[in-house]
Amino acid sequence: MKTYNFDKLVDRRNTNSLKYDYAKDFGYTKDHIPLWVADMDFSVIEEIKDAIYKINAVGVYGYTGISENYYKIVRDWMLKRYNFKVDKQWHCITPGVVYAMSTAINAFTQPNESVIIQTPVYSPFYRVVTNNKRNLIKNPLKYENETYCVDYADFEQKIVDNNVKLFLLCNPHNPVGKVFTKEELIRICHICCKHKVIIVSDEIHQDFVYEPNKHTVLANLNANFEQCCVVCTSPSKSFNIAGLKVSNVFIPNPELKKIYDEELIRRGPSSVNTLGIAACMAAYKYGSVWLDQLKDYLKGNIEFVEDYISQHMPRIKALKPQGTYLMWLDCSNMGLDNEQVNSFFKDEAKLWLNPGDVFGPEGQCFQRINIATSRSILQKAMDRIKTAYDVLYHDKSEFDLIKAESEILDIANE
Ligand SMILES: Cc1ncc(COP(=O)(O)O)c(C=O)c1O
Repeated sequence: MKTYNFDKLVDRRNTNSLKYDYAKDFGYTKDHIPLWVADMDFSVIEEIKDAIYKINAVGVYGYTGISENYYKIVRDWMLKRYNFKVDKQWHCITPGVVYAMSTAINAFTQPNESVIIQTPVYSPFYRVVTNNKRNLIKNPLKYENETYCVDYADFEQKIVDNNVKLFLLCNPHNPVGKVFTKEELIRICHICCKHKVIIVSDEIHQDFVYEPNKHTVLANLNANFEQCCVVCTSPSKSFNIAGLKVSNVFIPNPELKKIYDEELIRRGPSSVNTLGIAACMAAYKYGSVWLDQLKDYLKGNIEFVEDYISQHMPRIKALKPQGTYLMWLDCSNMGLDNEQVNSFFKDEAKLWLNPGDVFGPEGQCFQRINIATSRSILQKAMDRIKTAYDVLYHDKSEFDLIKAESEILDIANE
């Protein structure tokens, strides 16, 4: 079996890479280490490049059709990986998952109707609701003992109070890294079905779920629930082809599918991306081994960050993600306010991360770090945080500070 090398550095500069080439536009410099937007620093498998070279060799990029083989390859991927049997009748192709969600909002709701999301969450979840002039309702995830869980009572109450029509689920969840269990999804579906809420499930990070957690495709729970959901997937995160804009959406309910298709026609994506279709087929056909080895490498990166931070920077808590290649750093114990936390990482540590508050106010004093890069870059990033951290707390040892604070708290509680 081929062994892939994820330590190899890829120079992505001067490729119009959003992550590397637009620092100035975002208020950073070329000296900041970019660990923000959710793409990876790894080169794609040769088979994807070959599929694209083949088209390049012809040199014509005209309109592209969707072959039976495309549907079969996507179906096989979903079946083998998730035991989810896709019927071709359910399948639509869109230029991206955010596009797919925006289409669903327009298809299934009217202006001023309510859409619910679970915050903190990937910021386009807010935008697809408000930009389409729908009413945004938030069901914040509960953060307790360094884990996130659903506040079901609040979820149902808000659905009833606001006559919510649609729920945008993020599973695996960006940025908190939560993977919803079957039981959690069943409870969510019960509430949504009871109140006739359509669930649009963004499963773009499905391929990055770490054992013992398991990804459950929402439409795979039971025949009843599948009728109220729209499942959005893509090979884009998994195989690092986000720029090729291809995603696969599955809608088992024929009535909903018809309404969705009509909305797609209204929105007018007249054809699919030639290179995206070729890359998706190559990825799902040949990419299994690469993806499995990549996941092992990423698990190593997660452990590396967890260990480094807990050993050297105990005031920061790196939450272990159950899924995604994004880590959520809880900095609420640093003794800094939100602005100071953001400034610490940007101005002192010289890292380009996503400040937690871009995911909503619940993300204040958090940072999101993208660990899908080579270990040596992560090492450099951790060293930079440590240097800044040591300067910040130079007077006292960590443990003195934490002890002193807990003593103050004890006195206050007495
Ligand atoms: C949860 C989630 N959904 C959607 C997207 C973007 O998908 P697309 O580029 O296909 O619109 C991202 C990208 O980071 C994401 O994290």
